Amino acid sequence: MLRTDAITTAKELRQAYIDYFQHQGHAEINSAPLIPENDPTVLFTTAGMHPLVPFLLGEKHPAGNRLVNCQKCLRTDDIEEVGDTTHLTFFEMLGNWSLGDYFKEEAIRMSYEFLTEVLGLPAERLWISCFAGDADAPQDEEAASIWRRMGIPESRIVFLDKSYNWWGPAGETGPCGPDTEMFIELPGEACSSQCGVTCECGKFVEIWNDVFMQYNKTAEGRYEPLEQKNVDTGMGLERVTALLQGKKSCYETELFSGILADLAERISEPAPAESRSCRLIAEHVRAAAFLMADGVRPGNVDQGYVLRRLIRRSLQEMRNLGIREPIFATLTERVVRDYGETYPELAASRGEISTEAKNEEEQFITTLEKGSREFEKLMAKMPSDLEHKRISGRKAFHLYETYGLPLEVIREMAGEHGASVDEEGFREAYRKHQEKSRAGAEQKFKGGLVDQSERTTALHTATHLLHQALREILGDHVTQAGSNINAERLRFDFTHEEKLSSEELNKVESRVNDIIRRDLPVECKEMTLEEAKEAGAVATFADRYGDKVKVYRIGDFSLEICGGPHVGRTGELGGFKIKKEESSSRGVRRIKAVLTEQDQ
Ligand code: ALA
Repeated sequence: MLRTDAITTAKELRQAYIDYFQHQGHAEINSAPLIPENDPTVLFTTAGMHPLVPFLLGEKHPAGNRLVNCQKCLRTDDIEEVGDTTHLTFFEMLGNWSLGDYFKEEAIRMSYEFLTEVLGLPAERLWISCFAGDADAPQDEEAASIWRRMGIPESRIVFLDKSYNWWGPAGETGPCGPDTEMFIELPGEACSSQCGVTCECGKFVEIWNDVFMQYNKTAEGRYEPLEQKNVDTGMGLERVTALLQGKKSCYETELFSGILADLAERISEPAPAESRSCRLIAEHVRAAAFLMADGVRPGNVDQGYVLRRLIRRSLQEMRNLGIREPIFATLTERVVRDYGETYPELAASRGEISTEAKNEEEQFITTLEKGSREFEKLMAKMPSDLEHKRISGRKAFHLYETYGLPLEVIREMAGEHGASVDEEGFREAYRKHQEKSRAGAEQKFKGGLVDQSERTTALHTATHLLHQALREILGDHVTQAGSNINAERLRFDFTHEEKLSSEELNKVESRVNDIIRRDLPVECKEMTLEEAKEAGAVATFADRYGDKVKVYRIGDFSLEICGGPHVGRTGELGGFKIKKEESSSRGVRRIKAVLTEQDQ
């Protein structure tokens, strides 16, 4: 053990972090959902700063200019690595923010104090990296000299380039800046004379990142100094919990022990935390449960596709372990039990998560059956006297892409027929497909992080009008289930069972245009959540707001809790046109709409 302090569990760590920063004048804010609101550039909330982008760019935050929280995050970049001891898709990030308030001096002092005094980590094992400087910004000598003053010797401060010590923007554009990272050097031999903070041998554990957001990256790639200088920090809860417990990985902590214990009952692996397959299953099941709790349903595009992939990868891994009974839903129930107290949204959607999980598992089995029939057909077409039956990479990829048959299953089936698979060819087809879809995704997410342009602001106001018009015309059961805005259009998901008739759509569209023509003022007021509810404000995430909220009133038409920004008067919107109405998932409809130059 590195230390003897009382803080050891993840729960204690979350609490200690929040308490410490509250004591330093920070207001605690709730974790935002995993699906970003009004941000077209990314599918998921990837960092604690993400929901705060408008405030990092100067919008006033109702809770003040010092904030702290524990944010649910999801990143898919490393999905292929999951199963090792460090990579995760879903994780919790502890973070504190200064919105134009304190800067480097105080941020570093608090980080140092929290690590050494609250967590009791040994200062002599602390290593620091700072930004080395380049054409965009100078070397961060200021941060380094503050660390020196804290007592960190020169020999444990390193300067690294942008690939290490620069953070953001989270999408193409937005707030970003140099950062300083903190590492703990574990006892034991170094892997080589070159071993240091950038080495991945495990001797140095990165625990915290303080980002000094002093630039805004523009669509042209320029770094413009921000008027409001912010601090954004991030500490990975899983990794630090493992560190505090002297464990090799987070899979050995209580964050995963419940799911792993459930898995252990079904397999013969002696130590599930040591098994790559078990770690992958546990990780993906946890991520999937959290996504479903935030309203994502398995599907073929965007977030739904990622969710389906997580589920299928874990189901496939269960098959590889020889588990044949359907246990996916049971495992998600375990996640709900273990995390439901900290994240009430899990407990609140317990039933839905289980039902969805069961459905998806059944569907996977049906897919496997369909796929294997297709496979049989393929084999039947091959001449029976062929000596070496070989399935081409292209055909194997077709089975994977169209019938969802993973390569492992194709290989297994081929083996049963004494045939082989051109796996190199499969990987080639897979790579080509990925390149294509990546190009597609880049195209789709072009446009910059929270494009604060007039257009997106106008579409944001139009979303409020659409929401209210739907409630008026379809009924009060309509609530927002998701919203996504880019420079071209708004996309609004809402709870409603049936497809909208063209008459209903016409009514909704005319009602919005009617409000636009009335040129109503859009006013913002700060109040407590209680006051907002009393005033009858629509609150999409009632359980997720802090005590103080911003409420936007649009004349006598709409009243909604929202972070903004919005236009000044509805007349600025021009004309409103619904382009498409479709199903988003069960019980949820989706409308895509645009603003035109004027009412047509
Ligand atoms: N946003 C920073 C990170 O994710 C703190 O590391």
